[in-house]
Amino acid sequence: MMDTEHTDSDSYNGSVEKYYRFHSLIYDATRWSFLFGRDDLLDGIPDLSSKPRILEIGCGTGKNLSRLQYYFPDADLVGIDLSSAMLEVAKNKFIDSNQVKLIQAEYGADDIQLEPFDLIICSYSLTMVGDNIEDVIVQITDGLNPHGYIAVVDFNTSPFGWFRQWMEVNHVDLSGHLLPLLNKYYRPVISEKNDAYWGLWSYFTFIGQHS
Ligand SMILES: C[S@@+](CC[C@H](N)C(=O)[O-])C[C@H]1O[C@@H](n2cnc3c(N)ncnc32)[C@H](O)[C@@H]1O
Repeated sequence: MMDTEHTDSDSYNGSVEKYYRFHSLIYDATRWSFLFGRDDLLDGIPDLSSKPRILEIGCGTGKNLSRLQYYFPDADLVGIDLSSAMLEVAKNKFIDSNQVKLIQAEYGADDIQLEPFDLIICSYSLTMVGDNIEDVIVQITDGLNPHGYIAVVDFNTSPFGWFRQWMEVNHVDLSGHLLPLLNKYYRPVISEKNDAYWGLWSYFTFIGQHS
């Protein structure tokens, strides 16, 4: 069983890699049924400067990046993910494009030197970060241009203990800790919670500006 308090980064990464080795193959075909709000999040992104720089942390199979290509055809898009299996699927979506750069790394642990971004997107990746979540949010803030935006969609919580535990097995922390943290570090532009499957769990979308 995976503990979200992962102090041993290597074994955590190994476990995530193993999980996605199989799940990457069925990811795009299955996740529409429970990773709700991803398209709505991208629809809510405010106007950005011309040639914006956009990063997705935990870009997975590149679903969001490929939609962002159409929304921001002149943007520089960067996706970071720790799973090589997920990035392999993503690569196939951008074979004919030099607009998207994919990097295999663990955000928050690996030393990644990148130019600041106008927008950083986290779509169902922040609930996979363990105890150092506040450090990761500070790192995201440091990686934004002044007045840059963060856009997050993720699980919030569930009233059912068995479900929270099941999600923990799948590397996801459903303790409802993210929205308060995001509100602490960013000026909210959009902050919404919604129920999924009649309240089995709730998820949120948040767009905030670095002030
Ligand atoms: C649930 S998937 C979401 C993928 C994609 N963002 C989407 O919305 O379809 C979460 C992804 O985040 C990646 N991930 C989790 N923690 C990460 C970290 N600290 N650094 C980079 N990637 C991470 C996982 O490998 C996985 O591909």
